[in-house]
Amino acid sequence: MEIAKNIKYIGVDDTDIDLFEGQYDVPEGVSYNSYLIDDEKIAVMDTVDARKTEEWVKNLEEALAGRTPDYLIIHHMEPDHASNVRMLMEKYPNCVGVCTQKAAVMVKRFFDVDFAGRLQIVKEGDTLELGAHTLKFIMAPMIHWPEVMMSYESTEGILFAADGFGKFGALRHPNTEGMAADKLHATVDGWACEARRYYFNIVGKYGAMVQTLLKKAAGLDIKVIAPLHGPVIDKDLNYYLNIYNTWSSYKPENEGIFIAYCSLHGNTSEAALKLAEILKEKGAPKVSTSDLSRDDMAEAVEDAFRYDRLVVAAPTYDGGVMPVMQDFIHHLSIKAYQNRKVAIVENGSWAPAAGKKMREAFEQMKDITIVEPMVSIESTVKAKTISDLTTLAEALLN
Ligand code: FEO
Repeated sequence: MEIAKNIKYIGVDDTDIDLFEGQYDVPEGVSYNSYLIDDEKIAVMDTVDARKTEEWVKNLEEALAGRTPDYLIIHHMEPDHASNVRMLMEKYPNCVGVCTQKAAVMVKRFFDVDFAGRLQIVKEGDTLELGAHTLKFIMAPMIHWPEVMMSYESTEGILFAADGFGKFGALRHPNTEGMAADKLHATVDGWACEARRYYFNIVGKYGAMVQTLLKKAAGLDIKVIAPLHGPVIDKDLNYYLNIYNTWSSYKPENEGIFIAYCSLHGNTSEAALKLAEILKEKGAPKVSTSDLSRDDMAEAVEDAFRYDRLVVAAPTYDGGVMPVMQDFIHHLSIKAYQNRKVAIVENGSWAPAAGKKMREAFEQMKDITIVEPMVSIESTVKAKTISDLTTLAEALLN
């Protein structure tokens, strides 16, 4: 499967993984992408997760057709891509690994092997001639590990983007043999949903580094973006570059209100859903809700970043906030949540404390405006609660 002349996709799908990185639901699986540049010198672009070694080796050997690779380009050392570095280097003793200095240190840490003399260290702007193709290396530290680099193949205009522009979801249709061509190539329709969930949960903390990368990318004639997860992007590039610019600059993507709630006995959820109803009645552009105890946490994080306004609604628990809400706010904090309006709804039956704790947590984050008034529910939803929620809805829509 070629993504450009003599550049083949040799990646694999993982449709039986339960949690990616041990924490993210991937109902449609995930792909570990790997590519092969077939030229006078043959370069393999990254390996794959150990879960799929056998299938990847089959793809590799088929693409090599009896030849041996000259280079293994190691863009990223996270095990979903680098698990087979040692295996490949041992299988092909003349293959040279090409990576950053930091990646070379990680090779030793992960594999306890010193490939001395077989690792070619590259830095910003270095090039590697393969024949008709030339790779230029672009440092991309903290997208999203420190050793990450990308490479730009100048003949075809391909940016090998490591985890950048990655997306959850396998490329193959489940239960069918062979790859469906339509899944290898990104389409604007439907790409953002799982790419956004991937971005904010995995890369989100490092927006400044993505901004630096986008500035470098602006100076390149990119025709194709080849990420390490998800489909290859080879048309409508401006759409993808623009949306990455929005995400990485922490600007809201859409006007809307996301209500994240949790509830012990149904009273706080009743209030949260009542607020959603009032907002819709009053003409809110978009209202989205998530029950944090039951819905996907990664999707809640994604929606918090997607919209310009967030409401958190939680009961008091053990003198603080119900744990699942605490966890949600912690996720936002470590992903550098910022530049949003946040409203607070608390519940308490004898000593309400959740609102104060949630306010303190958001006040630690950058450019957060707390929308007043905070609504405090006394155990159950009453006429006063509805009146307070209506006042809050009006403030959110102002
Ligand atoms: Fe897909 Fe950061 O590994």
